Amino acid sequence: MKYVIGIDLGTSAVKTILVNDTGEVICENSKSYPLIQEKSGYSEQDPEQWIAQTKNSITELVAHFKGNVRDIEGISFSGQMHGLVLLDLNYKVLRNAILWNDTRTSPQCKLITEQFGEQILKTTRNRVLEGFTLPKIVWVKENEQEIFNQTSIFLLPKDYIRFRLTGDLSSECSDAAGTLLLDIAKKEWNIEICKAFEIPIEICPPLVESHSFSGTLLADVAREIGLSDETKVFAGGADNACGALGAGILSSDFTLCSIGTSGVVLTYEDDKDRDYGGRLHFFNHVKDDSFYSMGVTLSAGQSLTWFKENFAKNDSFQKLLEEIQHVPIGCDGLMFTPYLFGERTPHADATIRGTFLGIDGNHRREHFVRAIIEGITFSLNESIQIFRDEGKAIENIISIGGGAKSDIWLQIQADIFNAKVLKIKSEQGPGLGAAMLAAYGCGWFKSLDECAKRFINISSEFHPNPDNVKKYSILFNIYREIYSNTKELNQKLVDFRMK
Ligand code: XUL
Repeated sequence: MKYVIGIDLGTSAVKTILVNDTGEVICENSKSYPLIQEKSGYSEQDPEQWIAQTKNSITELVAHFKGNVRDIEGISFSGQMHGLVLLDLNYKVLRNAILWNDTRTSPQCKLITEQFGEQILKTTRNRVLEGFTLPKIVWVKENEQEIFNQTSIFLLPKDYIRFRLTGDLSSECSDAAGTLLLDIAKKEWNIEICKAFEIPIEICPPLVESHSFSGTLLADVAREIGLSDETKVFAGGADNACGALGAGILSSDFTLCSIGTSGVVLTYEDDKDRDYGGRLHFFNHVKDDSFYSMGVTLSAGQSLTWFKENFAKNDSFQKLLEEIQHVPIGCDGLMFTPYLFGERTPHADATIRGTFLGIDGNHRREHFVRAIIEGITFSLNESIQIFRDEGKAIENIISIGGGAKSDIWLQIQADIFNAKVLKIKSEQGPGLGAAMLAAYGCGWFKSLDECAKRFINISSEFHPNPDNVKKYSILFNIYREIYSNTKELNQKLVDFRMK
């Protein structure tokens, strides 16, 4: 039997899975690393910790594997998007990586939008947002000029891991698409944008396809992690693209809803000219010459984690979710907006903060938990609404991540999205997409579609209940009004805090 390893470099942890050629996950492992948040809005990580924990995770994974390590033929990656890793001439990391959920770059975003916003939207198909890489580069240029001057190349998080495992310095389009420097249709770095912000184009890494062969493992790394130095390594993809691949989103028939730290709703696109006017993200997929559009809820699972850590530390997520079945739809008048760290879709707003609306003396903990679950799902439904407004049929939604671990939440998704929600058997998220890129790269399958047919099975379906759909559609309209009604109030609170 043959095997591949999928590595998913997430925001809180790296997850590794060992998968055989039928798509069965033989073992898995996960190792966490901290966020470094020196100031409000800052979110960084030490790339050295990614490396150490990735190596530890593979070492433990391989130690649990009973077969011959020479049968582990390939490795590929999925990674948190947009993060900025700067390397000097000797390819040493110059500063901590600035992550996708760091919001310090609002002034840079404003400037970039004013000077070049239209051109960027036309070329990169995305609006300028704090999370993306270009504003981070401009921030470093303005605030840490010495570091900027020493930069010989920038890499995205999973590309840095691949570099350290193989020595290969490159990126691929699904991740490069999140930088605001890539011409999405041409699949090349855009010289005009680089010039406009005095970014030498040489610091942009060479681009390859997601399934491209990057080389074999460096001999010392292979020894250290217990693998053969003949193990082939393939480029990999952005976590959302790999999540989509791992859920079989390779045609327009299915939409993905992924609820992790952040939440995304994503649909496959084969028309490179599709234009949402920046209302949704539009990125290259890991399948050659295809794309996906996506809406993002910044604090999805994170909202629930925040609540649990602060108010229900000793209870499991499972217990919290079981408790909500006794709370009626609409939580007896309680509603939540998940804007703990601002929002992306449909409100690209780093300043807005969350709300619990309608708190009543009779509300108990379970009302708050259900309101959070409903609020996260309403936020994701705003993205679905945009797809539908643009004429896209959203009928079958494959749900993955934390939101797919609970049948109650899956039913809430079906009722709020008014669509059939499907759950995957032994879902592995982006890590499986990474393993599939390795499997395809190794030549096990003629196409990613063929690999998906073999690797992915649906285990259950949740159908919208018409009565619940009606109730939720009324509540959704109320939810949508909260943003405009709290925006100004939030700004006043921010101004007060800044004084
Ligand atoms: C996508 C985004 C997040 C990160 C999380 O634009 O910022 O989904 O990729 O890892």
